[in-house]
Amino acid sequence: MPSKRLSVLVLAAGKGTRMRSRTIKLLHPVAGRPMVAWVLDAAKTLGPSRTITVVGYQADRVRAALANSGSTFVLQKEQRGTGHAVLRAARAIGSKPGTLLILNGDLPTLRGTTLRKLVNSHRRRRVALTVLTAELPDATGYGRILRDRAGNVQRIVEHRDASTEQRRVGEINTGVYVADAGKLLRVLRKLKPHNDQGEYYITDAVHQLIAERESIAAVRHSDAAEVLGVNTRQELALASHMLFERHAERLQDSGVTLLDASRTWIDPRTTVGRDTVIYPGVIVEGECKIGANCVIRSGCRIADTKIGAGTEIKDYSIVLGSRIARNATIGPFAHLRPGSILEDGAKVGNFVELKKTRLGRGSKANHLTYLGDATIAEDCNIGAGTITCNYDGTNKFPTVLAKGVFIGSNTQLVAPVKIGEGAYVAAGSTVTRNVPKGALAIGRSKQMNIEGWVARKSKKLKNRKRKS
Ligand code: UD1
Ligand code: CA
Repeated sequence: MPSKRLSVLVLAAGKGTRMRSRTIKLLHPVAGRPMVAWVLDAAKTLGPSRTITVVGYQADRVRAALANSGSTFVLQKEQRGTGHAVLRAARAIGSKPGTLLILNGDLPTLRGTTLRKLVNSHRRRRVALTVLTAELPDATGYGRILRDRAGNVQRIVEHRDASTEQRRVGEINTGVYVADAGKLLRVLRKLKPHNDQGEYYITDAVHQLIAERESIAAVRHSDAAEVLGVNTRQELALASHMLFERHAERLQDSGVTLLDASRTWIDPRTTVGRDTVIYPGVIVEGECKIGANCVIRSGCRIADTKIGAGTEIKDYSIVLGSRIARNATIGPFAHLRPGSILEDGAKVGNFVELKKTRLGRGSKANHLTYLGDATIAEDCNIGAGTITCNYDGTNKFPTVLAKGVFIGSNTQLVAPVKIGEGAYVAAGSTVTRNVPKGALAIGRSKQMNIEGWVARKSKKLKNRKRKS
C-alpha cells in the first residue's frame, strides 16, 4: 500500500489577519466545525501513517479543537512564514521521511478524493514536489504559478512580490503540496526571507529544487471553488454554504425532502432518514440523528438530538441535547433544553419548556408549561400553565409523576414532590406534599361568593360622589 509511508503536515500557526478577529482564522466555524478540523478530516481519508499539525498563534486553542483528530502537534512560536513552519516539523517528520502531504489549514472545502488523486499523480511522476493549482478569473492575493514556454513550472511568486505582468497569470497556488520530504527539508534550510514580508516561504522551495535539478509537477484542479483558501469573512460564509450544500445533496440523494435546500442548514455530521420532510429555515446543528418519516417545520433549531421515526416538530421550536422517540409531536414554539426525553407518542405543545425532563409514552403537555427535573410516566396529562417549582434559589429538586396522572391547569408542583399513579390534581393547585395513588389533590383556597356585592359597591360610590 503506497499510503503507508505518507505523512500529513497541516500548517495552522498563522493568525489570519484578514479576518479581523481576536480568534485565529482556523478556528472560525465552517458548517459548525472549526475550519481546520475539516482539513484534517479530508487528509484522514488517505489513511496516512501520521498527521502533524504546526500550531503557533493561539496554539492551546487549536490543540484543544483538534484533540480528537489523531494529529500530533509542533509549535512554531514565531510565525516566520510557511517555509519556516514546515521546518519546525522537521524533527517530527524524522529521518525516514517518505512522502509528505502539506496542507494550509484554511482549506475547509477540500475533498479527500482530490488529495488522493494528487498523491497518486505525484508518485506516478516520481517528482520532488507536486503543487495543486487552480485557474481563477481574478487571482488577486494568491501566489501565482509561473511556467516556462514548455509549460514546466518555474517558480511560485506571491501576489505582493509579483510584477504587473506576473499578476496577469490566472493560475494560483492552492497551498496543497506533495513532496519528497527529505528533498523538501533540504532546500527549505537554504531559503532566505528575501520578499516583501521578510518571511520564509514554502513556495520558494520550488525554484530552489529546480536549481538543484529536481523536477516539479503542478496539477491543475478544475473545481477552483473547492480549493480556494478562506481568508476573509466573505470566503468563510461561502465555505459554509458549500459544505451545507454538499450535505443537502447527499441527503436528497438518500431520500430526504428538503423543500428549499438553500435555506436549510443541516450539519454535515447529521443523518436523516428516508421520506423525512424538512421545511425552509430549519437549522440542525451537531451530530443529530433524525429518523424516517419525520416532519420538521420552518424556523426550528435542533442541536445534538436524536429523533425517532414519524415525529413532527412544528414551527419555531428549539430542541437541544434531547432524545425524542417515535411519533412524538413538538411545538409550535416549544423549547426542549438539554436532557429532555420524549418517549413514543409524547406531545409537547406551544410555549412549553422542558429541562432534564422525561415525558413518558403518550403523555402530553400541550400548553404554556415549564417542566424541569421532572420524571413523568406514561399517559399523563399536564394541564395548561403547569409549573414545576424545581429551584429554591440554591438547589434543584425532582418532580415525579407516576402513570396516568392528571394535572389540572395552572398548577404549581413544588419540588421535591411525587404524584401517585392515576392521581388527579385540581386546577389552580399549589402542590407541596406528595399525592397518593388514586387521590384527588386540591391545594387552593376555597371559593367564596358574596351575594349582592356589586350592587352595594355601586350604591356606595354614588353616595360618595353626591357628598363631594
Ligand atoms: C499562501 C501561499 C500562496 C497561496 C495561498 C493559498 C505562501 C508563502 N504563500 O499564502 O502562494 O496562493 O497560501 O491560500 O505559502 N502559516 C503557518 N505559519 C506561518 C505562516 C502561515 O503555520 O508562519 C499557516 C497559516 O495558518 C495558514 C497557512 O499557513 O493555514 C497559509 O498561510 P496564509 O497566511 O493564509 O498564506 P497566504 O498568504 O494566503
Ligand atoms: Ca491563505
